[in-house]
Amino acid sequence: MKMNIILIGFMGSGKSTVGKQLARNLFMDFIDMDDVTLSLSKRKSIAEIFAKEGEVRFRELEIRAAKLLAKRTNTVIASGGGIVLNKIILDYLGKTGSIVSLDTTFEEVVERIGHMENRPLFQDKVKTKKLFDFRQPLYTAYADISVTTDKMPIKEIAQEITERMKH
Ligand code: S3P
Repeated sequence: MKMNIILIGFMGSGKSTVGKQLARNLFMDFIDMDDVTLSLSKRKSIAEIFAKEGEVRFRELEIRAAKLLAKRTNTVIASGGGIVLNKIILDYLGKTGSIVSLDTTFEEVVERIGHMENRPLFQDKVKTKKLFDFRQPLYTAYADISVTTDKMPIKEIAQEITERMKH
């Protein structure tokens, strides 16, 4: 069976962009977990799920998305930044392949996505920094492989993951 690669990391760590490149390099499919989660709701955006139904509902939908994703093979899965909050999700996905953590500094995250308004958990920089400090050790702890992505071009990050997957 062909295994999956599950990318984890904070918002803005590059899970989707790196994931697409990695999938191209390795001739794998790519899927964004947020898209699956959104498709299980009747909402138009993740921000709308948070605003109208709250985070708890979003996390419930994420568990359902993880169950669906666990059926896939040969797929690079860009997970939602909050999956480390829910060990059940990591257990579902971790069984299907390798977990790769994309590590960034908070400063880099702010530079990349601090100006965007589509992330409900990135509205207040001080709160987001607390979330970052709480979660960053969890990404590392759950990962089979950790890769630093600060200031690194997408192609190089994807290449490094490919190399390290071989060992
Ligand atoms: C979240 C990250 C988002 C999305 C939702 C919640 C989080 O995904 O799932 O806004 O809790 O960190 P990205 O990491 O793809 O931005």
